[in-house]
Amino acid sequence: MADEQIIKSKERVRDFAEVYTPSRIVKEMCDLIPAEKWTIESTFLEPACGNGNFLVEIYARKLKLCANEHDGLKALASIVGIDIQQDNIDEARDRLKAMYLEAYPNCNSFCKWMLNMTLRNNIICGDSLTIMEKWATDNNMRAPVIVEGANGQYSFLN
Ligand SMILES: C[S@@+](CC[C@H](N)C(=O)[O-])C[C@H]1O[C@@H](n2cnc3c(N)ncnc32)[C@H](O)[C@@H]1O
Repeated sequence: MADEQIIKSKERVRDFAEVYTPSRIVKEMCDLIPAEKWTIESTFLEPACGNGNFLVEIYARKLKLCANEHDGLKALASIVGIDIQQDNIDEARDRLKAMYLEAYPNCNSFCKWMLNMTLRNNIICGDSLTIMEKWATDNNMRAPVIVEGANGQYSFLN
């Protein structure tokens, strides 16, 4: 879109190299990913996610594969985003949350709780270099995994 905002301020460009990717380019880049990689559970990590431009495109493509609200949560749980600025993380979480609620307006309160937990766990404010170094060295830190229980309920594995 011609009027898409790609910077918030000169200071943020200077301090954080913050220049958002226009949606047209995000789509073109996602198109480069082979079709077989697009599954509900295929994992994506965006280590400098900004306000979520790539995350929302990835989630939109995954949502098309989802049959129900539980799939929608599984798809969300496979997406991890990190940014060093909290306002970006707040926006990214809000955008993803709105997508889920638009897709599943009648989802129950448990799904809403899982939605919030997943966003809190997976869309993280921090220095991605430090966080990924921790992930690489600390066996106790894993990306959250959602599992389906015998009763059809879903819960976090870790
Ligand atoms: C060029 S922007 C890209 C944003 C988004 N990926 C997009 O394409 O629209 C870079 C982003 O990286 C973030 N950033 C800079 N240093 C970072 C770090 N050490 N860890 C995590 N995020 C960082 C900035 O806050 C900024 O939002």
